[in-house]
Amino acid sequence: MDVLHTVLDVKRRLRPVQMQGLRVGFVPTMGALHDGHLSLVSEARKHSEVVVVSIFVNPTQFGPNEDLARYPRDLPGDLEKLGGSGADMVFAPEVSEIYPAGEQTVVEVTGVSRGLCGAVRPGHFRGVTTVVSKLFHIVRPDVAVFGQKDFQQLAVIRRMAKDLHLDVEIRGAPIVREPDGLAMSSRNRFLSPEDRARALALSTGLRAAHQRFTSGALAAPELLAAAAAPIAAVGLTPEYLELRSAEELTPVERVEANAVMLVAARLGNTRLIDNQLFELGRGAA
Ligand code: PAJ
Repeated sequence: MDVLHTVLDVKRRLRPVQMQGLRVGFVPTMGALHDGHLSLVSEARKHSEVVVVSIFVNPTQFGPNEDLARYPRDLPGDLEKLGGSGADMVFAPEVSEIYPAGEQTVVEVTGVSRGLCGAVRPGHFRGVTTVVSKLFHIVRPDVAVFGQKDFQQLAVIRRMAKDLHLDVEIRGAPIVREPDGLAMSSRNRFLSPEDRARALALSTGLRAAHQRFTSGALAAPELLAAAAAPIAAVGLTPEYLELRSAEELTPVERVEANAVMLVAARLGNTRLIDNQLFELGRGAA
Protein backbone atom coordinates (compact mmCIF):
# COMPACT_ATOMS: atom_id res chain seq x y z
CA MET A 1 0.00 0.00 0.00
CA ASP A 2 1.53 3.32 -1.11
CA VAL A 3 1.24 6.28 1.25
CA LEU A 4 1.50 9.59 -0.61
CA HIS A 5 1.39 13.13 0.72
CA THR A 6 1.49 15.42 -2.33
CA VAL A 7 -0.90 16.11 -5.18
CA LEU A 8 1.91 15.66 -7.68
CA ASP A 9 2.81 12.20 -6.35
CA VAL A 10 -0.82 11.07 -6.55
CA LYS A 11 -1.13 12.27 -10.14
CA ARG A 12 2.20 10.68 -11.11
CA ARG A 13 1.16 7.37 -9.60
CA LEU A 14 -2.44 7.30 -10.90
CA ARG A 15 -2.36 8.73 -14.41
CA PRO A 16 -0.41 5.77 -15.92
CA VAL A 17 -2.85 3.39 -14.20
CA GLN A 18 -5.74 5.32 -15.73
CA MET A 19 -4.05 5.31 -19.16
CA GLN A 20 -4.08 1.52 -18.95
CA GLY A 21 -7.85 1.66 -18.55
CA LEU A 22 -7.91 0.38 -14.95
CA ARG A 23 -10.87 1.59 -12.88
CA VAL A 24 -9.99 3.73 -9.87
CA GLY A 25 -12.19 3.61 -6.77
CA PHE A 26 -12.01 6.35 -4.16
CA VAL A 27 -12.97 6.60 -0.48
CA PRO A 28 -12.53 10.07 1.05
CA THR A 29 -12.21 10.10 4.85
CA MET A 30 -11.03 12.27 7.72
CA GLY A 31 -9.21 9.34 9.34
CA ALA A 32 -9.71 7.90 12.86
CA LEU A 33 -10.90 4.94 10.87
CA HIS A 34 -13.41 2.36 12.08
CA ASP A 35 -15.26 -0.55 10.49
CA GLY A 36 -17.71 1.87 8.82
CA HIS A 37 -14.86 3.38 6.83
CA LEU A 38 -13.40 -0.05 6.06
CA SER A 39 -16.76 -1.20 4.66
CA LEU A 40 -16.52 1.62 2.11
CA VAL A 41 -13.09 0.36 1.06
CA SER A 42 -14.54 -3.15 0.48
CA GLU A 43 -17.37 -1.64 -1.53
CA ALA A 44 -14.90 0.39 -3.64
CA ARG A 45 -12.83 -2.75 -4.17
CA LYS A 46 -15.87 -4.52 -5.69
CA HIS A 47 -16.25 -1.84 -8.32
CA SER A 48 -12.66 -0.90 -9.19
CA GLU A 49 -9.18 -2.28 -9.73
CA VAL A 50 -7.20 0.33 -7.80
CA VAL A 51 -8.57 1.71 -4.52
CA VAL A 52 -7.45 5.08 -3.17
CA VAL A 53 -8.33 6.25 0.37
CA SER A 54 -7.76 9.85 1.40
CA ILE A 55 -7.18 10.83 5.01
CA PHE A 56 -7.57 14.56 5.47
CA VAL A 57 -9.19 16.45 8.34
CA ASN A 58 -10.70 19.20 6.21
CA PRO A 59 -10.64 22.50 8.12
CA THR A 60 -13.17 24.28 5.87
CA GLN A 61 -16.05 22.00 6.86
CA PHE A 62 -15.73 22.84 10.58
CA GLY A 63 -17.44 25.94 11.98
CA PRO A 64 -15.55 28.35 14.26
CA ASN A 65 -17.01 26.74 17.41
CA GLU A 66 -16.73 23.15 16.24
CA ASP A 67 -14.31 20.36 17.07
CA LEU A 68 -11.54 20.80 14.44
CA ALA A 69 -8.79 21.11 17.06
CA ARG A 70 -9.78 17.97 18.96
CA TYR A 71 -10.82 15.89 15.94
CA PRO A 72 -8.98 12.55 16.41
CA ARG A 73 -5.85 12.11 14.27
CA ASP A 74 -3.93 8.80 14.17
CA LEU A 75 -2.24 8.20 10.81
CA PRO A 76 -0.11 5.21 11.96
CA GLY A 77 -3.20 3.51 13.46
CA ASP A 78 -5.22 4.26 10.32
CA LEU A 79 -2.53 2.82 8.04
CA GLU A 80 -2.47 -0.34 10.12
CA LYS A 81 -6.26 -0.72 9.81
CA LEU A 82 -6.08 -0.11 6.06
CA GLY A 83 -3.33 -2.71 5.71
CA GLY A 84 -5.58 -5.68 5.07
CA SER A 85 -8.59 -3.72 3.84
CA GLY A 86 -8.09 -3.75 0.08
CA ALA A 87 -6.75 -0.19 -0.24
CA ASP A 88 -3.87 0.22 -2.72
CA MET A 89 -3.01 3.84 -2.03
CA VAL A 90 -3.48 6.30 0.81
CA PHE A 91 -3.39 10.03 0.17
CA ALA A 92 -2.68 11.93 3.40
CA PRO A 93 -1.90 15.54 2.51
CA GLU A 94 -1.11 18.56 4.68
CA VAL A 95 -3.66 21.39 4.73
CA SER A 96 -1.35 23.62 2.62
CA GLU A 97 -1.26 20.96 -0.09
CA ILE A 98 -5.04 21.03 -0.55
CA TYR A 99 -5.52 24.75 0.16
CA PRO A 100 -2.56 26.56 -1.44
CA ALA A 101 -1.82 30.05 -0.14
CA GLY A 102 -4.16 32.63 -1.65
CA GLU A 103 -6.72 30.11 -2.87
CA GLN A 104 -10.10 31.66 -3.64
CA THR A 105 -12.35 28.91 -4.99
CA VAL A 106 -15.32 27.24 -3.34
CA VAL A 107 -17.88 24.74 -4.61
CA GLU A 108 -21.36 25.09 -3.19
CA VAL A 109 -24.50 23.04 -3.69
CA THR A 110 -27.57 25.06 -2.76
CA GLY A 111 -31.01 23.42 -2.15
CA VAL A 112 -30.16 20.02 -0.70
CA SER A 113 -27.37 21.54 1.47
CA ARG A 114 -29.91 23.67 3.29
CA GLY A 115 -31.90 22.39 6.25
CA LEU A 116 -30.98 19.50 8.57
CA CYS A 117 -27.19 19.60 9.20
CA GLY A 118 -26.88 22.54 6.78
CA ALA A 119 -29.13 24.64 9.01
CA VAL A 120 -27.26 23.75 12.21
CA ARG A 121 -23.77 23.94 10.67
CA PRO A 122 -23.67 26.93 8.30
CA GLY A 123 -20.93 26.55 5.68
CA HIS A 124 -20.34 22.87 6.54
CA PHE A 125 -21.46 21.44 3.21
CA ARG A 126 -19.66 24.18 1.27
CA GLY A 127 -16.46 22.92 2.95
CA VAL A 128 -17.35 19.31 2.13
CA THR A 129 -18.16 19.94 -1.54
CA THR A 130 -15.11 22.15 -1.96
CA VAL A 131 -12.72 19.53 -0.60
CA VAL A 132 -14.42 16.60 -2.30
CA SER A 133 -14.29 18.33 -5.68
CA LYS A 134 -10.60 19.12 -5.15
CA LEU A 135 -9.98 15.45 -4.25
CA PHE A 136 -12.00 14.28 -7.26
CA HIS A 137 -9.84 16.43 -9.54
CA ILE A 138 -6.64 15.08 -8.00
CA VAL A 139 -7.65 11.40 -7.99
CA ARG A 140 -10.08 11.37 -10.98
CA PRO A 141 -11.92 8.31 -9.67
CA ASP A 142 -14.29 6.23 -11.78
CA VAL A 143 -16.29 5.40 -8.66
CA ALA A 144 -16.40 7.06 -5.23
CA VAL A 145 -18.03 5.50 -2.16
CA PHE A 146 -19.74 7.44 0.65
CA GLY A 147 -21.55 6.16 3.74
CA GLN A 148 -25.31 6.48 4.18
CA LYS A 149 -24.45 7.38 7.77
CA ASP A 150 -23.99 10.94 6.45
CA PHE A 151 -27.13 10.75 4.38
CA GLN A 152 -27.41 14.45 3.56
CA GLN A 153 -23.72 14.57 2.61
CA LEU A 154 -24.29 11.70 0.17
CA ALA A 155 -27.27 13.54 -1.39
CA VAL A 156 -25.21 16.75 -1.66
CA ILE A 157 -22.29 14.92 -3.33
CA ARG A 158 -24.64 13.17 -5.78
CA ARG A 159 -26.13 16.56 -6.69
CA MET A 160 -22.67 18.09 -7.14
CA ALA A 161 -21.48 15.22 -9.38
CA LYS A 162 -24.61 15.54 -11.50
CA ASP A 163 -24.60 19.33 -11.75
CA LEU A 164 -20.88 19.51 -12.60
CA HIS A 165 -21.13 16.63 -15.12
CA LEU A 166 -18.39 14.75 -13.28
CA ASP A 167 -17.40 11.38 -14.75
CA VAL A 168 -17.64 9.64 -11.40
CA GLU A 169 -20.18 7.12 -10.20
CA ILE A 170 -21.26 7.94 -6.64
CA ARG A 171 -22.14 4.86 -4.59
CA GLY A 172 -23.75 4.86 -1.15
CA ALA A 173 -22.92 2.14 1.40
CA PRO A 174 -25.07 1.08 4.39
CA ILE A 175 -24.49 2.33 7.94
CA VAL A 176 -22.20 0.10 10.00
CA ARG A 177 -23.32 -0.09 13.64
CA GLU A 178 -21.90 -1.23 16.97
CA PRO A 179 -23.42 -4.53 18.20
CA ASP A 180 -25.98 -2.60 20.30
CA GLY A 181 -27.08 -0.43 17.36
CA LEU A 182 -25.15 2.83 17.79
CA ALA A 183 -23.93 4.05 14.40
CA MET A 184 -20.12 3.90 14.29
CA SER A 185 -18.53 7.35 14.31
CA SER A 186 -15.05 8.74 14.89
CA ARG A 187 -16.72 10.98 17.49
CA ASN A 188 -18.17 8.16 19.65
CA ARG A 189 -14.86 8.01 21.55
CA PHE A 190 -15.66 11.42 23.08
CA LEU A 191 -18.82 10.18 24.82
CA SER A 192 -18.75 9.70 28.58
CA PRO A 193 -20.09 6.26 29.65
CA GLU A 194 -23.40 7.93 30.62
CA ASP A 195 -23.70 9.72 27.28
CA ARG A 196 -22.69 6.55 25.41
CA ALA A 197 -25.69 4.84 27.05
CA ARG A 198 -28.03 7.76 26.21
CA ALA A 199 -26.74 7.94 22.62
CA LEU A 200 -28.25 4.52 22.01
CA ALA A 201 -31.71 6.14 22.13
CA LEU A 202 -31.10 7.61 18.65
CA SER A 203 -30.84 4.22 16.92
CA THR A 204 -33.47 2.72 19.24
CA GLY A 205 -35.89 5.50 18.27
CA LEU A 206 -35.23 5.10 14.56
CA ARG A 207 -35.69 1.35 14.85
CA ALA A 208 -38.98 1.81 16.72
CA ALA A 209 -40.22 4.08 13.92
CA HIS A 210 -39.16 1.53 11.33
CA GLN A 211 -41.08 -1.18 13.18
CA ARG A 212 -44.21 1.00 12.98
CA PHE A 213 -43.56 1.41 9.28
CA THR A 214 -43.23 -2.34 8.73
CA SER A 215 -46.58 -2.81 10.49
CA GLY A 216 -48.22 -0.37 8.10
CA ALA A 217 -47.84 3.16 9.51
CA LEU A 218 -47.03 5.69 6.79
CA ALA A 219 -47.95 9.08 8.30
CA ALA A 220 -45.00 11.24 9.35
CA PRO A 221 -46.46 12.35 12.72
CA GLU A 222 -47.00 8.74 13.86
CA LEU A 223 -43.55 7.59 12.68
CA LEU A 224 -41.82 10.63 14.20
CA ALA A 225 -43.63 10.14 17.51
CA ALA A 226 -42.40 6.54 17.64
CA ALA A 227 -38.80 7.72 17.22
CA ALA A 228 -39.15 10.70 19.54
CA ALA A 229 -40.35 8.72 22.59
CA PRO A 230 -37.16 6.76 23.41
CA ILE A 231 -35.05 9.84 22.66
CA ALA A 232 -37.10 12.01 25.03
CA ALA A 233 -37.01 9.22 27.65
CA VAL A 234 -33.23 9.68 28.08
CA GLY A 235 -33.62 13.45 28.32
CA LEU A 236 -32.29 14.26 24.85
CA THR A 237 -33.73 17.05 22.70
CA PRO A 238 -32.75 16.38 19.09
CA GLU A 239 -31.40 19.25 16.98
CA TYR A 240 -33.69 17.83 14.35
CA LEU A 241 -35.81 14.73 13.85
CA GLU A 242 -37.40 14.74 10.43
CA LEU A 243 -38.89 12.58 7.72
CA ARG A 244 -37.67 13.45 4.22
CA SER A 245 -37.82 11.98 0.73
CA ALA A 246 -34.83 9.69 0.16
CA GLU A 247 -33.83 11.30 -3.14
CA GLU A 248 -34.10 15.09 -2.83
CA LEU A 249 -34.52 15.24 0.95
CA THR A 250 -37.71 17.27 0.68
CA PRO A 251 -40.04 17.16 3.72
CA VAL A 252 -42.78 14.52 3.50
CA GLU A 253 -45.98 14.12 5.48
CA ARG A 254 -46.45 10.49 4.46
CA VAL A 255 -44.21 7.73 3.10
CA GLU A 256 -45.38 7.51 -0.51
CA ALA A 257 -41.97 6.87 -2.05
CA ASN A 258 -38.73 5.84 -0.34
CA ALA A 259 -38.15 8.11 2.63
CA VAL A 260 -35.52 8.62 5.28
CA MET A 261 -35.84 9.67 8.92
CA LEU A 262 -32.88 11.74 10.06
CA VAL A 263 -31.85 12.73 13.56
CA ALA A 264 -29.08 14.80 15.11
CA ALA A 265 -28.45 15.36 18.81
CA ARG A 266 -25.83 16.87 21.00
CA LEU A 267 -24.48 14.92 23.97
CA GLY A 268 -22.20 17.18 25.96
CA ASN A 269 -19.75 18.59 23.42
CA THR A 270 -20.31 15.78 20.97
CA ARG A 271 -22.78 15.95 18.12
CA LEU A 272 -24.11 12.68 16.73
CA ILE A 273 -26.22 11.95 13.65
CA ASP A 274 -28.11 8.86 12.51
CA ASN A 275 -30.82 7.96 10.02
CA GLN A 276 -33.08 5.16 8.89
CA LEU A 277 -34.37 4.41 5.40
CA PHE A 278 -38.04 3.56 4.89
CA GLU A 279 -38.12 1.60 1.66
CA LEU A 280 -41.48 0.83 0.09
CA GLY A 281 -41.70 -2.75 -1.07
CA ARG A 282 -39.12 -3.68 1.56
CA GLY A 283 -41.13 -3.78 4.72
CA ALA A 284 -44.27 -1.67 4.41
CA ALA A 285 -47.33 -3.85 4.93
P1 PAJ B 1 -15.63 10.92 7.71
O1 PAJ B 1 -16.54 11.38 8.78
O2 PAJ B 1 -14.27 10.42 8.06
O3 PAJ B 1 -16.38 9.81 6.91
C1 PAJ B 1 -15.79 9.26 5.75
C2 PAJ B 1 -16.83 8.37 5.08
O4 PAJ B 1 -17.17 7.30 5.98
C3 PAJ B 1 -18.14 9.11 4.77
O5 PAJ B 1 -18.61 8.73 3.48
C4 PAJ B 1 -19.06 8.63 5.89
O6 PAJ B 1 -20.43 8.64 5.52
C5 PAJ B 1 -18.57 7.21 6.06
N1 PAJ B 1 -18.97 6.66 7.37
C6 PAJ B 1 -18.73 7.19 8.60
N2 PAJ B 1 -19.29 6.43 9.57
C7 PAJ B 1 -19.89 5.39 8.93
C8 PAJ B 1 -20.64 4.25 9.38
N3 PAJ B 1 -20.90 4.03 10.66
N4 PAJ B 1 -21.10 3.39 8.43
C9 PAJ B 1 -20.86 3.60 7.10
N5 PAJ B 1 -20.15 4.66 6.64
C10 PAJ B 1 -19.68 5.53 7.53
O7 PAJ B 1 -17.52 12.30 5.84
C11 PAJ B 1 -16.40 12.74 5.95
O8 PAJ B 1 -15.38 12.11 6.65
C12 PAJ B 1 -15.96 14.04 5.29
O9 PAJ B 1 -17.05 14.92 5.25
C13 PAJ B 1 -15.37 13.84 3.86
C14 PAJ B 1 -16.40 13.25 2.89
C15 PAJ B 1 -14.12 12.94 3.92
C16 PAJ B 1 -14.94 15.23 3.29
O10 PAJ B 1 -14.01 15.84 4.12
